[in-house]
Amino acid sequence: MALQAATQKMVAEFDYPASDVNKGVKEFLREMDEGLGETGTTMSQIPTYVTAVPNGKEKGLYLAVDLGGTNFRVCSIMLKGDTTFSLVQSKVAIPKELMVAKTSQELFSFLAKQIELFLEKHHNDHFEATVRRRRTASASEGYKDQEYFQLGFTFSFPVQQVGINKGYLIRWTKGFDIKDTVGKDVCSLLQDEINALQLPVKVAALVNDTVGTLMARSYTSPNRTSTLLGAIFGTGTNGAYVEKLDQVKKLSIGESSKDYDQTTGDMIINTEWGSFDNHLSALPNTPYDDALDKESNNPGIQMFEKRISGMFLGEILRRALLVLANNTEAAFCSDVDSSKNDIRSTASIGPNSTLYKQWGLDTSFLSVVVGDTTPTLKIVRQALEKDLDIDAASYEDAVTVKALAYAVGRRAARLSAVAIGAIVLKSHRLETDDVIDVGVDGSLVEYYPNFEEMIREALREIPEIGPMGERKIQIGIAKDGSGVGAALIAWSAAQRYSGSSD
Ligand code: GLC
Repeated sequence: MALQAATQKMVAEFDYPASDVNKGVKEFLREMDEGLGETGTTMSQIPTYVTAVPNGKEKGLYLAVDLGGTNFRVCSIMLKGDTTFSLVQSKVAIPKELMVAKTSQELFSFLAKQIELFLEKHHNDHFEATVRRRRTASASEGYKDQEYFQLGFTFSFPVQQVGINKGYLIRWTKGFDIKDTVGKDVCSLLQDEINALQLPVKVAALVNDTVGTLMARSYTSPNRTSTLLGAIFGTGTNGAYVEKLDQVKKLSIGESSKDYDQTTGDMIINTEWGSFDNHLSALPNTPYDDALDKESNNPGIQMFEKRISGMFLGEILRRALLVLANNTEAAFCSDVDSSKNDIRSTASIGPNSTLYKQWGLDTSFLSVVVGDTTPTLKIVRQALEKDLDIDAASYEDAVTVKALAYAVGRRAARLSAVAIGAIVLKSHRLETDDVIDVGVDGSLVEYYPNFEEMIREALREIPEIGPMGERKIQIGIAKDGSGVGAALIAWSAAQRYSGSSD
C-alpha cells in the first residue's frame, strides 16, 4: 500500500492540467513575438532565408549530411520531380569524445571524412573520375562546375543564420560542448575540411532539422496542402514554421543578407523552442527536473526541451525512481514480506544499476515500459532486469515504473501541444483552412505509445482550438525529413545561384 500511495503522489507531481496548458500557450505566443523582433531573446526565432515550401516538382541529385544529437548521416537524394525521391544513406554514431572535443577541427574533419567514405562507396564512378583524377600527381587542376555535388548541411543546433549557407553557432545543445565552435560559421568549418580532402562538394545550404522536416513534408504531402510546421520530438525538440515576412522585424537589423526571394511574402522561422520559457514562468518544475537541470552541462537553458525530449525523459524517470528507491517506507524494489509488514532489504537493485548513473536510462525504456499491455507486466519486469539490473521486481514495482513512465511521457506530450497549439493560433489558418498540415519526426512521436493522441487531447483543451480545430490539424511523420529537406533547400539555393526557375 505504501508503494501505491507514494507512486500516486509522485505521478501527481507530473500533472500538467488544462489551465497550465493555456497559460503556456499565452506565454509561447508572447515569446514568439518577442523573438521575431529582436535577437538574444529566450526563444531565438531564427530567420532561415528559406522563403517557400516545395511543390513536389523539384528535381536532381543532391547530397545531404545531418549532424543530429546522436548520429551523423550522409545521404544522396534523387528528387524525381513528382513528389517522390530515392535516397541512399550511411549513418555513424558520433563518437562521444568528439561531442566535447577541444577543437572544432576534430569534429568537422571527422564529418568530412564520412562524406569522402560515402562518395567512394556509393558514387564510386564519380569519385574515380574526379577525386582520384585530382589526387594523381599529373592532374592538379580543379573541378568543373558540373562536377560538384551541392550539399545541404542539416545542423541541428541553434545558429545565427545570416544567409542560406552561412550561420554562426549560438550555443551547443544535446550534450555537445566544443567551446571553440561557438560564434563560428559552421558552413565554412565544414567546407574547409571538405576542401582539405579535395572533394567536389559545395556546402550550398545550412538547414536545421526542423526546417528539413517541414520541407520534406511539403514535398511529399499527400494532398498537397502546404505544410505549416515541421517539428522534431527526438533527442531534442524544436519546430520551424511558415511566418509572414513582414512579421520578421529583426531581418532589418544587423548583418542579415538581403539575398533571398521576397516574392512569396513568407519566411520559414526556426523557433528553437527548446529554450522556450527558460525563466520557468509557465513550465512545470518538479524536484527531478530541477536536479537534472542543475547537473546538466547547460543549466538554465533549453528548459522546455529538458521536459520534452528523448535525451531527458529517461533521466527524469531515473531520478524519480531513485527517490522512490531511497524512500524505505515506499519499499520500491524491496523484498517485502507483507504478512509481517517487514521490509527485509533493498538488495534486489544491483549496485551497478543504471539507476545510479546520470543519463543511464534511455528514453526508449519509457516507450517499452508504457507499451507493455501484458496482464503480468512481464515486459516491464524484463526491462527492469535488463536495463536497470533490478532482479525479481514484483508486479507492484512494475506497476509503479509503468505509471511513472506514463506520467513523464504524458506531460511531455501535453507540453508539445503548447508549442503546436500556439503556432497554429499564430498562423490564423484555423479561420481559413480546412486542413493544417504538420510534419513531425523523432523517436518520441515514432515509438512512445500514443504520443500524438496525448498531444491531441491537450490541443482540444485550448479553447481557441477546441475539438473542431483539433480535427483540422493533420499530423504526419516526415520520416528522414532532414535528408530530403536539406536536398530541397540545396536545390532551391542552386536554382537561385544559376538564376534558373524550373
Ligand atoms: C535542439 C537543437 C535544435 C534542433 C533540436 C531537434 O533543440 O537546438 O536546433 O532542431 O534539438 O534536433
